[in-house]
Amino acid sequence: MGSLRIRVVEDAHELGRAGADLVAEVIAAAPTAAIVVATGRTPMGLYAELAARRRSGVLETKAISAVQLDEYLGLEPDDRRSLFGWMHRSFLEPLGVRDDRVIRLPLDGDLEGACAAFDRGLEARGALDLAILGLGRNGHLGFNEPPSDAGSSTRRVELSSSTIEANARYYDGGRPPATAVTLGMRQLLSARAIVLVVSGSSKRTIVRRALEGPVGPAVPASFLQQAGGDVTVIVDRAAWADGRAS
Ligand code: PGA
Repeated sequence: MGSLRIRVVEDAHELGRAGADLVAEVIAAAPTAAIVVATGRTPMGLYAELAARRRSGVLETKAISAVQLDEYLGLEPDDRRSLFGWMHRSFLEPLGVRDDRVIRLPLDGDLEGACAAFDRGLEARGALDLAILGLGRNGHLGFNEPPSDAGSSTRRVELSSSTIEANARYYDGGRPPATAVTLGMRQLLSARAIVLVVSGSSKRTIVRRALEGPVGPAVPASFLQQAGGDVTVIVDRAAWADGRAS
């Protein structure tokens, strides 16, 4: 069994710094680390902090591999609203991670077969070194929407209306696609280390349910309580306030 640590920080700024410290430690110990990279607003400060450290020469990131966490289906490959586009702008480009070190999800053809092959390929590389994850208001990790069990693999998913609504903020005013591909819970939960970043009062209820509530598919993030690797949850005061649901 792994460990679960909860670190409460003052605000989103401190969250970025604390998250970057942890990611930098992983990269220092394993310069070729395979790292799952979430999009979403919460990890953006963390990525900006990593990029600043790289620019100042205290962090070398070019040998890491970046693993895509999730992606919408049905977009053109160069659509800037894609999650890959976001990952590219916020992480790959600022950290100098070349295309041949990016592990991208399958998005077309026989998706079931392609996702199974993707998982086999990932497993053949050995455990992921680190997964950087955000928390959905409905308890999702990546696009593992409720209900998702701990053994679910990389697959095509239907997004919930709550996720579509939440992500419309990041979709140039339009409505994001209702189908997507996500890395499975099994792949995420077997990572050597996981950092979950949680910020803001809209996450108060769900972060408590995920970390203190019953473990089960209704709140996929609750499986972090039983993950095999070292889980660090970095949560700001707005999300952790008083322990009371808002
Ligand atoms: P957010 O997204 O960081 O933009 O809140 C989190 C998520 O949906 O996983």
